[in-house]
Amino acid sequence: MVEVRELTQTDIPSIVAIQKVITKGKVSAEWSKMMEEHVGDVRRPGFVALKGGKVVGFIIGEEKGEGFGMPRSGWLDMVGVDPKMMGGGVGKAMIKRLFEVFKERGITNIYTSVKWDAVDMLSFFKAVGFDRSSFINLIYKL
Ligand SMILES: CC(C)(COP(=O)(O)OP(=O)(O)OC[C@H]1O[C@@H](n2cnc3c(N)ncnc32)[C@H](O)[C@@H]1OP(=O)(O)O)[C@@H](O)C(=O)NCCC(=O)NCCS
Repeated sequence: MVEVRELTQTDIPSIVAIQKVITKGKVSAEWSKMMEEHVGDVRRPGFVALKGGKVVGFIIGEEKGEGFGMPRSGWLDMVGVDPKMMGGGVGKAMIKRLFEVFKERGITNIYTSVKWDAVDMLSFFKAVGFDRSSFINLIYKL
């Protein structure tokens, strides 16, 4: 049974630990600070998933105002699940909760961005219902 609740400051060390395992490396102080700043920010809803009282996943979203030729939208900025718990519905449960929040706010379009070669992430997003958007990402290198 997966429980999903709002992200709190006390969850940050658990999230950092999960991110460290996922990325097989160090997580910068900047990343941790960014996570801390999400707590309590209504425009950036964040949730954690718990199994047996232990944090096993996190999801961070963002509400964006009108712009780029589109109405107010929801964004899925980050999602991560403890590798020991992957494939058990944790990611899906967190997506469901985040999308409920966006829906309550009258948002109908939810976007995310994924590295072109991140096959696992692409498969996950496809499985939970994402499709290709009408946007393409551009980059300018300074
Ligand atoms: C992608 C991720 C969030 C999915 O979470 P999860 O809890 O393992 O996924 P779920 O068990 O909720 O799966 C939901 C659906 O996605 C599918 N899915 C999940 N991961 C998949 C994968 N790697 N390949 C194919 N399908 C996948 C499941 O089969 C399931 O489909 P169904 O509903 O039709 O049965 C999680 O595996 C993860 O954190 N991966 C690492 C992320 C990463 O590498 N990030 C890079 C740094 S940001």
